[in-house]
Amino acid sequence: MDINLRKPIIAGNWKMNLTRREAATLITEFAPNVLSAKSEVVIAVPFTNLETAKDIIRPTNIMLAAQNCHHAKNGAFTGEISVPMLKDIGTDYVIIGHSERRQYFAETNKTVNLKIKSALEERVKVILCVGETLEQREQDVTKEIISLQVIDGLKDIKTKNMEDVVIAYEPVWAIGTGKTATAEQAEKVCKMIRETIATIYNEKTAEATPILYGGSMNPKNAEELLSQKDIDGGLIGGASLKAKDFTEIIKIADKLL
Ligand code: PGA
Repeated sequence: MDINLRKPIIAGNWKMNLTRREAATLITEFAPNVLSAKSEVVIAVPFTNLETAKDIIRPTNIMLAAQNCHHAKNGAFTGEISVPMLKDIGTDYVIIGHSERRQYFAETNKTVNLKIKSALEERVKVILCVGETLEQREQDVTKEIISLQVIDGLKDIKTKNMEDVVIAYEPVWAIGTGKTATAEQAEKVCKMIRETIATIYNEKTAEATPILYGGSMNPKNAEELLSQKDIDGGLIGGASLKAKDFTEIIKIADKLL
C-alpha cells in the first residue's frame, strides 16, 4: 500500500453467518482491541445484524457495511433491501458484485453497475468486488475479465463519485478455499485494476482509489499481501469471524504504516 495516498482498509465479510446475539459477542470481543487502529476497520454483516452492529460500534471508528442491496429505491421487489433502507440504519458501505452474488444470484456487470449508481446517489460507499474463476485464469483471460468488470461496473460513474468507491480483487478460486493468490499474482492484478481506473478516469483518481485483496487472507499471509504497493487492505471472509484473527490482521496492517 502507498500510505501517503491511501489509508489501509481491513473489511470483514461475515457472509450469511451469525445471529444477532453471536454478532454482538464477536464485535464485543474484537472491538476493544482495534479502537485505536490507524487502518479503517469495516464489518460487512447480514441485513438482520445491521442495527445490532450499528448500536455496538456507534462510539467507535468501526464502519458498517451491508453485503448487497437492490438498485431501486423502493417498490415491488419482494425480499430485497434498498440503499435508503441501509442508509436509514447508518450503513457506511455496501459490498456490490461479490463473486458469490454473481455466481449464485445471477448478478451481472450490468446489475452491479445499477447497484453502484444507487449506492453512490445516497452517498453510501461501495466495495466493488471483481475476480476471475479458476477456469478463466487457466484460459489466460484474467486481465480481460477483470478490466471488463471494472469498466462495466463503473459505467457512467463520475470522477468525483470515485472518492466513495473501493475495489476488492477477489480471485474466485481463492475464496473460502484456503488457496491464497501469491503476493505477486495479487499485486499484478491490483496494479492492472489501478491502470484500468487511470484509463477510465485519470492518474490522480487511480492513485487515490483503495484496492483490496480478498481470498483466504489470514494472519499468516496478510503481511506479505498487504506489503504490496497496489494492495491497500483486505476483504476478509472466514478469518473475520474469529476475533483473534481479525484483530491480528488489523494490527499487521497498522504495523505496515
Ligand atoms: P475468505 O472470503 O476470506 O473466506 O476466502 C473472502 C470473501 O469472500 O470476501
